[in-house]
Amino acid sequence: MTPPDFFDMGARDNMFRPVRGMKDLYGPDAEKYNFIFTKIKAVGESYGFNLIYTPLLENTDVFQRSIGDETDVVSKEMYTFLDKGNESMTLRPEGTAGVIRSVVSENLAQKLPIKLMYCGEMFRYDRPQKGRFRQFRQIGFEYIGDKSPYTDVLLIAMAAESLQAIGILDFNIKINTLGDEETRENYTKAIVKYLSRHEENLSEDSKLRFKRNPLRILDSKDKRDLDICSMAPIIMDYLNKESRQYFEKVCKLLEACKINYEINNFLVRGLDYYSHTAFEIQSANTSYREALGGGGRYDKLLSIFGGPDVSGIGFALGIERLMLILKNGILVREPIRVAVIPVDEPENDYSFSIFRELQTCGINADFIHIGNLSKKMKTADRLGVKIAVILGEAEMKSGTATIKIMDSSDTSEKHKTIDINKLTAFLKWNIEERDRA
Ligand code: HAM
Repeated sequence: MTPPDFFDMGARDNMFRPVRGMKDLYGPDAEKYNFIFTKIKAVGESYGFNLIYTPLLENTDVFQRSIGDETDVVSKEMYTFLDKGNESMTLRPEGTAGVIRSVVSENLAQKLPIKLMYCGEMFRYDRPQKGRFRQFRQIGFEYIGDKSPYTDVLLIAMAAESLQAIGILDFNIKINTLGDEETRENYTKAIVKYLSRHEENLSEDSKLRFKRNPLRILDSKDKRDLDICSMAPIIMDYLNKESRQYFEKVCKLLEACKINYEINNFLVRGLDYYSHTAFEIQSANTSYREALGGGGRYDKLLSIFGGPDVSGIGFALGIERLMLILKNGILVREPIRVAVIPVDEPENDYSFSIFRELQTCGINADFIHIGNLSKKMKTADRLGVKIAVILGEAEMKSGTATIKIMDSSDTSEKHKTIDINKLTAFLKWNIEERDRA
């Protein structure tokens, strides 16, 4: 008599399972997901970002043209298929390309700058491992139409604040610059010259990349390529004057805002659209070293989609990776109520430092510095700002600020001068009064 098979799973063996690298999300994990989304979305709202939802499926061209044919994402990881109309379609591997496609096709770039945030599923046919899935979720932010180091620092600060908002406090920010087009052309020449001496020893993939897009060899994960690249020239030595000044200003502002960062010359990111600032955030917890999030500036992305020649910057955080190391944390955010507005360009740096001080004191503030004063006031109006802090030459000299209560009908209330040292206390009091009302 044959013994019963105690390990026979019966019907379970035939049950459908999720596709490899894709997970069902339920119970405490679903709660965690919701917690992360709610908290980080609130950070986005406090910086004036609005939600955008774009389709999960785009014409393959959208990703090929923006992310670049020779990137791993496009050449190996995309879920691409022909639909019933014989058109090539791709499940989005990341959020930026679709958002920028939408900004252009929906004509959203008419009023710039524009700040958009998104959250949802992305798909990459990668080798599944801890924190790496074939379907994963990102929460991302794109700030389009304000090319200045201030915006770069703002987005880096926001990325850090997003992690803090969910209770992740130990992380490292790595930054690099990819310079402008001229810089990258010169750097590419240097890389080609260097790699041509090592071509034989490159991985098979990188031999192909060498012919088509040599800079991509720098983000190869193959050990042979990594060894060769560790001795390669670094972009810092090829930055033209403008790119160098831009990067130096970003670093200076980060220091002024007391944001800790590390420069990593080999941080090139895996997507072709970046120029100037690129950054990644890693947990300081050594048991998980993959990036929690990353981003950077893109100068040409809008024009690739036929939009205006304006720059943008953004970042995305990987929600599954945040879930891996999440500790609970509670932080309640207020909607934006204050804007710091320099009258003219010479007041920008001073105003930006005041703006950051307000933010570190927990005041939800915006920094509006593009255009003349009347345009800046209109932008403040459009963003729903309640209190404008106006800083001109006279205010800088006298250590004061002009306060404009945007929503007051009482004209004597409209403009007030205040000692700059009393600004934070006044704003906190005013915000509390409004909360009580
Ligand atoms: P990315 O670095 O490719 O950038 O992805 C951002 C984050 O998504 C990563 O740091 C990681 O946390 C998460 N992620 C990526 N791949 C996977 C995966 N297979 N499994 C789990 N999590 C993953 C971008 O996607 C850019 N669009 C970011 C950006 C926005 N740049 C400018 N704006």
